[in-house]
Amino acid sequence: MTTPVTPAFPSKLPNVGTTIFSVMSALANQHHAVNWGQGFPDFGCDPKLLDAVTAAMQAGHNQYPPMPGMPQLREAVAAKIAALHGTHYDPHTEITITAGATQAILTAILATVHTGDEVIVLDPCYDSYAPNIELAGGVIVRVPLTPGSFRPDFAKIAAAITPQTRLMIVNTPHNPSATIWTADEMRQLEALLAPTNVLLISDEVYEHMVFDGAQHESAARFPGLAARAFIVSSFGKTYHVTGWKVGTVAAPAALMSEFRKVHQFNVFTVNTPMQVGLAAYMQDPAPYLELPAFYQRKRDLFAEGLQQTRLKLLPTTGTYFQCVDISEVTDLNEADFCQWMVQELGVAAIPLSAFYGDGFAQKVVRFCFAKQDATLLAALERLRKL
Ligand SMILES: Cc1ncc(COP(=O)(O)O)c(C=O)c1O
Repeated sequence: MTTPVTPAFPSKLPNVGTTIFSVMSALANQHHAVNWGQGFPDFGCDPKLLDAVTAAMQAGHNQYPPMPGMPQLREAVAAKIAALHGTHYDPHTEITITAGATQAILTAILATVHTGDEVIVLDPCYDSYAPNIELAGGVIVRVPLTPGSFRPDFAKIAAAITPQTRLMIVNTPHNPSATIWTADEMRQLEALLAPTNVLLISDEVYEHMVFDGAQHESAARFPGLAARAFIVSSFGKTYHVTGWKVGTVAAPAALMSEFRKVHQFNVFTVNTPMQVGLAAYMQDPAPYLELPAFYQRKRDLFAEGLQQTRLKLLPTTGTYFQCVDISEVTDLNEADFCQWMVQELGVAAIPLSAFYGDGFAQKVVRFCFAKQDATLLAALERLRKL
């Protein structure tokens, strides 16, 4: 008998290989480095949230919830958006609970992008967007944010819009640059898209991490954007539970009904006890209202330490990331510098070039400061040499 052979088949994502995130994490483990690269907290969540989820499980909330999510959680999400942004989404038809923001974004893309449709992304961007568009058969159109300031360049965005443009993806607060869009920029986007049929995914997973008294300018605040937008958020980021993978999408009913057609046959729904626990926990707004102060203190602690080095800090106005310019410190490019840093100093970071389709390098690396103070101080000690 001959040994059975696995049939060869063409890859759906031939350009996806091992990412810098996996490379850096593997190196970080190998060198027992402080992992400042990947974006997740090294501290626990509020014990009250654990109690709420445990209570939900013990109360028997362990079977399939409704396809769009538990009604009480959708109601809590709609109430939060109304309270913060003054926009009313119907929890029955306009809010869906997803398996993290990652699934929300993929599902929104699969629900709207047809073969050959163009999708505009602003580089640098989160690494799931491009493969998601490719899976949907779309054409990725990359428009760079202005190097250095990371501001949107509306002339370039306008020039990229064609009759084939189906969708645009924006992200504020922005990973990796740690910048936030202003109300004026949101209005410019609203005006630019007004005469078009372009849909929008507004990735707002860091919505509660904005600093120095700034306001998160959700697409929900701009009627012309809200009317065309899937607004995506993540409980993982807001409540320090990235491993739970629970996210939300808000969109007008016409968009949401198409979204749910894909969601129904993609994941169908999201685990029940987390949803019941999150709904109970959301009744108190304090945890998300206090998040800006919580992370601003960490940002400042971290920045103070980095200022003792020759790394040049870029402004962090949102997210839990800090970008630094390495040009004073090294002749290496940012990817090689990150490899060197993890091996020699035991500190992992991510080169910004990893977030660009063409690997554009500008000598900037990204650190994540969602870490316990002790972790931040220990790694700052290692960076003193720079
Ligand atoms: C910009 C951005 N969007 C989406 C996600 C994914 O969020 P989730 O963990 O809820 O899938 C992340 C996670 O790092 C992110 O940084």
